[in-house]
Amino acid sequence: MKAAASSYLQAKLKNKQGLKAIYEQVTNELEQVEIILKEMTNSSNPLIVEIGNYLFRKSGKRIRPALLLLCAKLLGYKGNQDILFSALIEAIHTASLIHDDIIDNSNLRRGQLTVHAKWGPNITVLLGDYLYIKTIDQALKNSSPKILEVLTEVTSEMIEGEITEYYHSGNLELKEEEYYEIIKKKTASLFSAACQISSILAQSNQETENKLAQFGLNLGMTFQIIDDLLDFTGDEKKLGKPPLSDLREGRITLPLIFLLQNGNSHYKTKIAEYFKNKNSSESLKTEIIDIMVKNGALKYALAKAREFGERSKQIIMDFPASIYRDSLALFTDFLLNRDH
Ligand code: IPE
Ligand code: IPE
Ligand code: MG
Ligand code: MG
Repeated sequence: MKAAASSYLQAKLKNKQGLKAIYEQVTNELEQVEIILKEMTNSSNPLIVEIGNYLFRKSGKRIRPALLLLCAKLLGYKGNQDILFSALIEAIHTASLIHDDIIDNSNLRRGQLTVHAKWGPNITVLLGDYLYIKTIDQALKNSSPKILEVLTEVTSEMIEGEITEYYHSGNLELKEEEYYEIIKKKTASLFSAACQISSILAQSNQETENKLAQFGLNLGMTFQIIDDLLDFTGDEKKLGKPPLSDLREGRITLPLIFLLQNGNSHYKTKIAEYFKNKNSSESLKTEIIDIMVKNGALKYALAKAREFGERSKQIIMDFPASIYRDSLALFTDFLLNRDH
């Protein structure tokens, strides 16, 4: 049974159906998540409605809600609150994205203009704040103090991660461990919270809750390292966002850290030179990326993403066999091999 479920999903993944195959068990629930998301920007203010429609019109991959829903099914949860909390997790993610696009000077998200590129940064900051606080409002009305605590903690952790990353922009001394700490906070913490909430809803024991939180954390680390790699190797059409922006903004990601620590010392001079004079040095940027490829910096980052992915898989495969478990295990494969 276990092998059958797994090979069935494997075949679907190979057929390039990717996320669709992984989401098959939660399709109906994900449709309901969309409805709740759209309702979050119901307001008497037409601008909030207009931006909300724009924001939720073009959907993202919905990775985090799908994770929560699949984990809830894995644990045999029979209620329907998993749908609401999946939507709230996605709302937090959305708020973080619209703020992040201002910080990263990015004009394209999900294949369309970012909110700040269209409406300006002032209203975008307020809309992000609005989404965050609406999430907490909904959680207050519908959840246990424990879930509320997870949501508020993860939100502040993510913002702290973003601030720390920004603070270290251009810092050529950033250590690999510090990078992991940043991505854990800004990204992996939300993956972890999604999985943990499913466990709280299902009232499972502390050990299960910890295991699922760790599964999400490792998956989130895999996800962000690949995101950082795609910034160097990805295609704008597939990603729906412009590649090569981390370097431009001085963000120190894993391939760059590898190069700075293992490459020839004059690379450091080149990178420092580029950061000083970003606008006028397109050729220097191309040269740096070239050096990265030649030095195995991208390969190194991929190997690290695989290590975190392997850890997440080990944790999830420790659960009793089910189609949900296999779908979650395949999430890791998808996130490692994705091009979008
Ligand atoms: C992008 O997340 C932000 C990061 C944490 C790297 P996703 O790649 O999940 O974005 P959407 O929701 O699919 O657009
Ligand atoms: C953003 O990381 C993480 C959060 C939004 C908290 P990135 O800056 O790498 O995400 P993208 O590449 O813009 O999607
Ligand atoms: Mg960004
Ligand atoms: Mg990125």
